[in-house]
Amino acid sequence: MGDRKHRFDWSNRPHPRLFIPGPTEVRPEVLAAQAELMIGHRTDALEALFARVQAQARRLFFTEARVYVTASSGMGLQEAAIRNGVRERVICFVNGAFSQRWADVAEGCGKQTVRVAVEWGHPITPDVVVRALREHGPADAITVVHNETSTGVISPIAEIAGAVRDVAPETLVLVDAVSSLAGAPVHFDEWGLDVCLTSSQKALACPPGLALAAVSDRVLERARTVSGRGWYFDFLLLEKYLQRNTTPATPAISLLRALHVQLTHILDVEGLEARFARHRALAEMTWEWVRARGFDFFAAEGYRSPTVTAVANARGVDVDALNAFLTSRGMVISNGYGPLKGRTFRIAHMGDTTPEEMRYLLDTIDEFLAA
Ligand SMILES: Cc1ncc(COP(=O)(O)O)c(C=O)c1O
Repeated sequence: MGDRKHRFDWSNRPHPRLFIPGPTEVRPEVLAAQAELMIGHRTDALEALFARVQAQARRLFFTEARVYVTASSGMGLQEAAIRNGVRERVICFVNGAFSQRWADVAEGCGKQTVRVAVEWGHPITPDVVVRALREHGPADAITVVHNETSTGVISPIAEIAGAVRDVAPETLVLVDAVSSLAGAPVHFDEWGLDVCLTSSQKALACPPGLALAAVSDRVLERARTVSGRGWYFDFLLLEKYLQRNTTPATPAISLLRALHVQLTHILDVEGLEARFARHRALAEMTWEWVRARGFDFFAAEGYRSPTVTAVANARGVDVDALNAFLTSRGMVISNGYGPLKGRTFRIAHMGDTTPEEMRYLLDTIDEFLAA
């Protein structure tokens, strides 16, 4: 079914166009990169690809340190950050489902895990962090999620990292930027972060299956003093192989090719600053729509995510019915996460989405609301 106002017709797509907070829509050029003929992984060709991706990844994280690229989803690197960076004790700031999961990972790795809970919908702020370090410190590390995908809240990571440096300089700052990196700025070196990890299937708009983490020298020093780092995610082993532009185990070659194509687009065609500005513009379009239609925001004012909006369902819309309608038009959004199901729904504005595509989604939701 076409729509005269819009140049899109997604109703015949085999799968709906994704406006969910990951996986996000992947451009055909990026999908096609995965279909190239296979190569061996102990080859010059693989090392050349790995070196190119490494140089791009450093630009993406604004770092001169290193970026490990692993054949795993983001959770693998949450676990790696804990196993390499924490000897005994870690303070986990929990303001949503994914920060909670990080605490579960720390506990699962057998670390003393202090959970500092902040009400869902609110950010982690430097004062909360400083208070917790005074009350529960010393700690080997803190964990914090930059962009809580479950609540649509972004926390001020630069200020948090600065506060940790001031009051507990030995404490490492471990950051999950799974749903923000490539959609919002993350200046790894300037902000003084120790681990910052992301997944390929969110704002990077690649297929799922790769994770990337920028890692500071301090973490490698720490890792030398930590036992039980495991093998697959041992940063010291990854570092040894990175020096030769490769990985200890077989890398996900097809996904690396896709990532290379997409990073070339992000860095050299669109440009990082333009990409951040586009995410911001899509978020503002969505926020304006939320206000104009009598909905509300789940996230506190001033901390709303530029990549995903958790809409407080003030109109009591049947979210499953809304999504069924959208699916009939070839698009899909997300219900609220876990306990927020029905009370909220989530509209993702991350990845390569254009303002025209966003407008089409919002107009189609309006059609449902008017029916
Ligand atoms: C903030 C955040 N952290 C971690 C994860 C888990 O990432 P993955 O599924 O790539 O392991 C997600 C997934 O939605 C997320 O949004």
